[in-house]
Amino acid sequence: MRFLRISGKVSYGLISVAVLPALINIVTGGTLLPEVLPWVAVAVVVPLVIAVQIATDWKAGRSEEALIPHASNLRDRNPHFSGRAELLDDLRASLGRGVVALVAQPKQALHGMPGIGKTEVALEYAHRHYAAGDYDIVWWIAAEDSEQIPRQLGTLCWKLDLPVGDAEDKVSAAFSVLDRRERWLLVYDNVRSEQEIARYLPGSSRGHLVLTSRNASWSPSTNALRVDVFTADEARDFLDKSIPGQIDDDLDALAEELGRLPLALDQASSFIRRRDITIETYLRLYKSNPADVLDSGDVANYPRSVLVTYAMALAELREKSQAALQFLWLCSFLAPDGIPESLLEHAAPVLPQPLRAVAANELARLNLYGLLADYSLIRRQEGGVLGVHRLVQQITRERIPPGHRGRWLFKAAEALNLTGRKDPELRTALIAHRREVSRHQAVV
Ligand SMILES: Nc1ncnc2c1ncn2[C@@H]1O[C@H](COP(=O)(O)OP(=O)(O)OP(=O)(O)O)[C@@H](O)[C@H]1O
Ligand SMILES: [Mg+2]
Repeated sequence: MRFLRISGKVSYGLISVAVLPALINIVTGGTLLPEVLPWVAVAVVVPLVIAVQIATDWKAGRSEEALIPHASNLRDRNPHFSGRAELLDDLRASLGRGVVALVAQPKQALHGMPGIGKTEVALEYAHRHYAAGDYDIVWWIAAEDSEQIPRQLGTLCWKLDLPVGDAEDKVSAAFSVLDRRERWLLVYDNVRSEQEIARYLPGSSRGHLVLTSRNASWSPSTNALRVDVFTADEARDFLDKSIPGQIDDDLDALAEELGRLPLALDQASSFIRRRDITIETYLRLYKSNPADVLDSGDVANYPRSVLVTYAMALAELREKSQAALQFLWLCSFLAPDGIPESLLEHAAPVLPQPLRAVAANELARLNLYGLLADYSLIRRQEGGVLGVHRLVQQITRERIPPGHRGRWLFKAAEALNLTGRKDPELRTALIAHRREVSRHQAVV
């Protein structure tokens, strides 16, 4: 492009400084201008024009670069992220390098059982490569409810200063920007099936698309990368970071007992840290007391290690703070990410005790978030939002005492209404939660 621009200007320069005087000389028979003038013009002025043009183009190019808007909506990096070096390399290679980069739409589906770390790998990949400047746009899309995809693409347009209208508009506007740009990454997290998101896939192959899904069936055009439990080394490394100062044999014993499943290891290490107990004590408790969770609910859907570590955290929580447990029940009906912390405060008037008392008091609210985060039952994010892992939500919903489930679902709906009324700016952020509540209401 730049070459074409330069040669255009050069031709223009040639015409004006060389051809024109030559023409005048022909017409006037060389009486008006000295005969040598066209050649002087060619020798002096043309190189000057070229030099000025190159300088101007270079400057324009620089300012174009500076004008390219950057955008990212990633949630915070996991400070305990461990291992997965090979997987991250494979992901990069498949997405952007070598043979795979030449196929029409390089994309990955990270699949595997719940809580194994698919989302974390995608998140870490996105953070690393955005920080390294490999992408200008990194957009994370919670894709479990595919109807929410247009809204999130709309937010991307808004971030890039593009005016958009209805849902169709949002999708096509976002994709036409992506089509004109390179160096972008879209992550569709927790996709249910290929069919569900088919119409929301960008046609352009100029950027990268990563999907995470529990579903293992993908068409051959999608390069499926299988995520497995941690290796023994990865599990030890993770535990060593989360509960430092333990001997390797103990770390290995804990890792093996929990099947090296990341979510279970995370919950167990939070428990150990929180209670300041030895791994030996934890393992004794783990082996002796799994019963109440394993007896009920659709246990076949969940890894046993997650159920048991969850049950242990819950037993403690029940003892320590009934309000925290109630808050977890409330959150179990919302979307797993982007729960505004202020929801609890706004919703205070419609909540039952003891949660209502906590909700009305700032220090008590902070303590409650801290307690739940200490057990890895919620994640606190910058910007005053909370997340609850979908697997924790599912088990929690099933563990709400019989007869209370409908009531807490209703409370979740009321809490959202009140929050939306009190803080209209949060309304857009509440849409995903409203839809999730409606989804649960439809199956009750
Ligand atoms: N590489 C890792 N390093 C540190 N912690 C991890 C890692 N992978 C997973 N975890 C922990 O395990 C939890 C579950 O991981 P993640 O949410 O990625 O699972 P998932 O496979 O996406 O599950 P689901 O199918 O339910 O969405 C995380 O919240 C995190 O605490
Ligand atoms: Mg996930």
